[in-house]
Amino acid sequence: MYVCLCHAITDTQIKEAVSQGDSSLADVKKRLGVSNQCGKCAKMATNIIQRQVDIE
Ligand code: FES
Repeated sequence: MYVCLCHAITDTQIKEAVSQGDSSLADVKKRLGVSNQCGKCAKMATNIIQRQVDIE
């Protein structure tokens, strides 16, 4: 599903970013550009990142 509509970034892409070493919203923002426009996706993106970090 789409998490960041401004950049059409999906939860799968965010999980892949964590698999590649990202562990915070700042990391994923740098890699994918998530949450660097309107910012509405920040909370959901943070939740997905945190859940994925806990799994890995
Ligand atoms: Fe992600 Fe706007 S929805 S920056």
